[in-house]
Amino acid sequence: MLNFELYNPTKLVFGKGQIEKLATLVPANAKILLAYGGGSIFKNGVHEQVRKSLEGFEIIEFGGIEANPHFETLMKAVEIIREQKIDFILAVGGGSVIDGVKFISAAVPFEENPVDILKKRILFKEGAKVIPFGTVLTLPATGSEMNSGAVITIEATQEKLDFGGSAMFPKFSICDPTVITSLPKRQLQNGVIDAYVHVLEQYLTYPHDGYLQDRIAESILQTLIQVGPQVVENPTDYTLASNFMWSCTMALNGLIQKGVPSDWATHMIGHELTALYEIDHARTLAIIGPNLYKVMFETKKAKLAQYGKRIFNLAGTEDEIANEAINKTLEFYHTMGMITELSKCTEDFAKTADFIVKRFEERGWKALGEKQNITLDKVKSIVEKSY
Ligand code: NZQ
Ligand code: ZN
Repeated sequence: MLNFELYNPTKLVFGKGQIEKLATLVPANAKILLAYGGGSIFKNGVHEQVRKSLEGFEIIEFGGIEANPHFETLMKAVEIIREQKIDFILAVGGGSVIDGVKFISAAVPFEENPVDILKKRILFKEGAKVIPFGTVLTLPATGSEMNSGAVITIEATQEKLDFGGSAMFPKFSICDPTVITSLPKRQLQNGVIDAYVHVLEQYLTYPHDGYLQDRIAESILQTLIQVGPQVVENPTDYTLASNFMWSCTMALNGLIQKGVPSDWATHMIGHELTALYEIDHARTLAIIGPNLYKVMFETKKAKLAQYGKRIFNLAGTEDEIANEAINKTLEFYHTMGMITELSKCTEDFAKTADFIVKRFEERGWKALGEKQNITLDKVKSIVEKSY
């Protein structure tokens, strides 16, 4: 097993009715910026619950953080916090609002050009230098409620870039599974697939001796396969909702990644598809992932075979099982409503591979993946295979 350090200071408060604990989690006397997205929190009663439990606190609201949050929008909140001397931020929303709040938290005290946080991928390590924040999660998917990463879109250049650091963990996150009842089916599907691919990014690499990490990863995959198709149809079923929500958090709170290699190339390529065509994040992963496994078959086949045996009970030679495991993955994505071809999502796909390769070149990204062997010619093949 590789050496590792595990640090996760987020206090996770999980379960029905837990939003009412907000007042005990937010620092006493804090002046709060309540950040939210397009307004779903007003329709499903979450806003009301939040305001009720924070009665007596001084709160300024900032709405309009869009899906795939924009740097340009977030900078407006940065100005408000600087002007109004706000000392705590509460994100109420899905991954986009939470990621947006991470950026706001880092950008307020940042003295250089804030776009460099993204362009130079600055690491924020000192808690005292950022604005503390907590979250009320409304969409299980990204794990952002218990991790220290964020992905932000720069509208002006159509780029989607990530940043983070140990100062970017939420102080607390309230995860009430009942909030999922108002989610559109498409977002429930997205949540299951995003979490599933998070596990695959940290699992489908090469065989190693992190036995426990593999078993935990496999148990999250199995749980998502078990509850995913059902929760989309029955989001009011608390057993399904709670298992779904906890699986999503566990998929990307850092635990399964400790001591083992990880890939993340599906995400890096997928982010480009969202930046260019506004395809939902999870849907880009369903398009790219299976083709990446095909192009990188020789590198990944041993782990694909382990996955095929343990998750889908497949039998045969290593090559047969590994190939069939990719088919089974696609089958699951289709069951979950994913469209796995780029040409079905946009008509404008013909030059996508060249464009993405050029961008990666310009950023100095020469190779991706757990072995850094997904070179730019491989990226081109993966994207072309995804058409
Ligand atoms: O904006 P509102 O009106 O709230 O509506 C949202 C939005 O339209 C809606 N929604 C959220 N909760 C709802 C709800 N509608 C009804 N009822 C509720 N309870 O859902 C829509 C999508 O929300 P969004 O936050 O964009 O979705 P998600 O949580 O999937 O987040 C996606 C973003 O997270 C990033 C993605 O790149 C993308 O920008 N990611 C962040 C990661 C991280 N920080 O670790 C990792 C991921 O891989 C991912 O890259
Ligand atoms: Zn993701």
